[in-house]
Amino acid sequence: MKKTILSIMALVTWTAPAVAQTPVYLDDSQPIEARVQDALRRMTLKEKVRLSYAQSKFSSPGVPRLGIPELYWNDGPHGVRMEINWNDWNHAGWTNDSITAFPALTALAATWNPDMSAIYGKSISEEALYREKDVMLGPGVNIYRTPLNGRNFEYMGEDPYLASVMVVPYIQEMQKNGVAACVKHYALNNQETWRNHIDVHVSERALYEIYLPAFKAAIVEAGSWTIMGAYNKIAGTHACHNDRMLNQILKKDWNFDGVVVSDWGGTHDTKEAALNGLEVEMGSYTDGLSSDNSNGYDSYYLGNAYLKMIEEGKVPESVVNDKAARILRLIFRTSMNRKKPFGSICTEEHYAAAEAIGNEGIVLLKNAPVAKKSPALLPLKNDYQNILVVGDNATRKLNEGGGSSELKVKDMVSPLDGLRAIYGDRVKYAQGYAAGQPMYGNVNEIPQEVQDKLRAEAVAMAKDADVVILVGGLNKNHLQDCEGGDRQSYGLPFGQEKLIEELQAVNKNLVLVLLSGNAVEMPWIDKVPAIVQGWYLGSMGGKSIANVLSGKVNPSGKLPFSFPVKLTDNGAHSFDSLCYPGDGVKQVYKEDIQVGYRWHDTKKIPAAFAFGHGLSYTTFEYGKAVASAKKMTADDQLEISVKVKNTGAVAGKEVVQLYIGDDKSSVVRPLKELKHFQKIALNPGEEQTVTFIVSADDLKYYDEASKDWKAEAGKFKAYIGSSSADIRTVVPFVLE
Ligand code: BGC
Repeated sequence: MKKTILSIMALVTWTAPAVAQTPVYLDDSQPIEARVQDALRRMTLKEKVRLSYAQSKFSSPGVPRLGIPELYWNDGPHGVRMEINWNDWNHAGWTNDSITAFPALTALAATWNPDMSAIYGKSISEEALYREKDVMLGPGVNIYRTPLNGRNFEYMGEDPYLASVMVVPYIQEMQKNGVAACVKHYALNNQETWRNHIDVHVSERALYEIYLPAFKAAIVEAGSWTIMGAYNKIAGTHACHNDRMLNQILKKDWNFDGVVVSDWGGTHDTKEAALNGLEVEMGSYTDGLSSDNSNGYDSYYLGNAYLKMIEEGKVPESVVNDKAARILRLIFRTSMNRKKPFGSICTEEHYAAAEAIGNEGIVLLKNAPVAKKSPALLPLKNDYQNILVVGDNATRKLNEGGGSSELKVKDMVSPLDGLRAIYGDRVKYAQGYAAGQPMYGNVNEIPQEVQDKLRAEAVAMAKDADVVILVGGLNKNHLQDCEGGDRQSYGLPFGQEKLIEELQAVNKNLVLVLLSGNAVEMPWIDKVPAIVQGWYLGSMGGKSIANVLSGKVNPSGKLPFSFPVKLTDNGAHSFDSLCYPGDGVKQVYKEDIQVGYRWHDTKKIPAAFAFGHGLSYTTFEYGKAVASAKKMTADDQLEISVKVKNTGAVAGKEVVQLYIGDDKSSVVRPLKELKHFQKIALNPGEEQTVTFIVSADDLKYYDEASKDWKAEAGKFKAYIGSSSADIRTVVPFVLE
């Protein structure tokens, strides 16, 4: 009885335990901003500060006490880089980090096809997901200013419009998968010489017209979640903590709501980093670099020194809250995003994507007949019985070296493999020249006797070959196409010029496949009937090259930068050394807005191969372009149409390019500037009308006085053609 009463009483007084409410920051049905604010409210000052600096070479912490995960950052931009040790720069030596290498960004830009950019971003993000990476350090959009820049291969060429169009789908497709892009290196990191401290001075016009548009497109159009500050200084202050670049332009003018990360080791001052807009400091040269002392990272500029400044009231708390909010937003978008898919590496789709991008990026620079009345040398004739492939680059692992963009590939089809897959044992190989191993920070000199012997062997074999295919160019060694140093000369290295001379002396059927991310000097140009720009094409590169040489694929790539005949034909090399490479402290971009083809056009200096150039195995005929009106006002648009017809015997793709030039202007303007393009596919005999919509924005320059874009009334011309130097039709019109 007593027992029963007790249990009844227990029943009466018992209340159900409160059901624990999911905190807002953990609830992914809540808007991200609500989650950010909720997490911030729960965090201590120390926890907020701790988000802002590295915990290892490639990761930054979350908030362990609240279950907020860390961020894993990874290079970028051509594939997911192999694992690096926690506390030093050595390869970690894992065996599960081999991936697909995609074509270098110069090759992507050379496709002039935004769809290629989209499959690039999608594929690489899937590989990043499999490798459990949250932020991919790329793409890079620094403008190609000089062919000596060691990192041009990681960028998208010399034209701000082309780079802007191509960067957007890469970022959008990547971020759809919950992987952040990190557009880099913001800004004016246009050379590797003295990159850590050179102070770049550039006019406002050149900044806005040439160097910023692709970054702006990445932020404003694509919505990149992160951006990397460059190593160099801009007008006296390091780019990683530059108030004007970060607080004013990026965050105020472009409404950037994401995270600015320093380039690795690009932070130099606590107060500037705190106040001028840097969120995350990575790779600084403190204890964290060389030892595994767990406190090393606390001595970063945004570590204890930053905390102390906040505690002493020298940095307002609003600053730390803003930085922490941005980093939390990034975490919710990526590492704490439960809706993101699982990834995959080295799938058939990724290999097909790499091959397709390579196929469309290869540029046929020259294709002449060897004798009068004979057909052009390419595509290769099917009945060749003795095909000699020469060159170190025909077999070299070009994903190794080059600096932070190095990749460990699972599979790799070299050009020699690709050609053998089609032509079997009709293909013979001679190395022809040696280039040594990738040596970051060292130059690898090859003894002359070695080069002489290799050359002599190749020349002997060339004598009775039906065709000789030299796969040469640059490579990823230090002082070639490699981070940390610029090229020392414009010509081909490793004795290749002599090799070309001697090969062509014994065999006129000489094809040169140039693997590089830069233009090279070609004093031998008249002696080589066929020249193919084959870039660095990654895992499936050899397939793409063989596809083009054999004619399985009709080349349709167009140059994203000019090939000057000689170095001094390039704007940056037309002045004293203060213009390039600077005096060791400072540099002045004296060519101003006249970068690349703008310089060639305006100064009337023809390039060996012009921006936008690229041949096909078919021919395209352009009709006369017509405009929908003769005049336009600042508020209307003009439709400009042109008929393009495939007049050859095979299907092909053409990039129809529209440039605009202002006939007369109160300021200096380039003769013409790329404003639109369209890549079209045509069967033999097929014709298509391409229509471009021109608006007043396409006619504007950046006016330094009013700090705004301005179009001056008067006469303009639309130049339409197959390259910047091959204009087929011109339409005049007037802006009222
Ligand atoms: C490069 C960056 C790279 C970073 C991390 C730096 O040296 O400039 O492009 O993302 O290292 O590897």
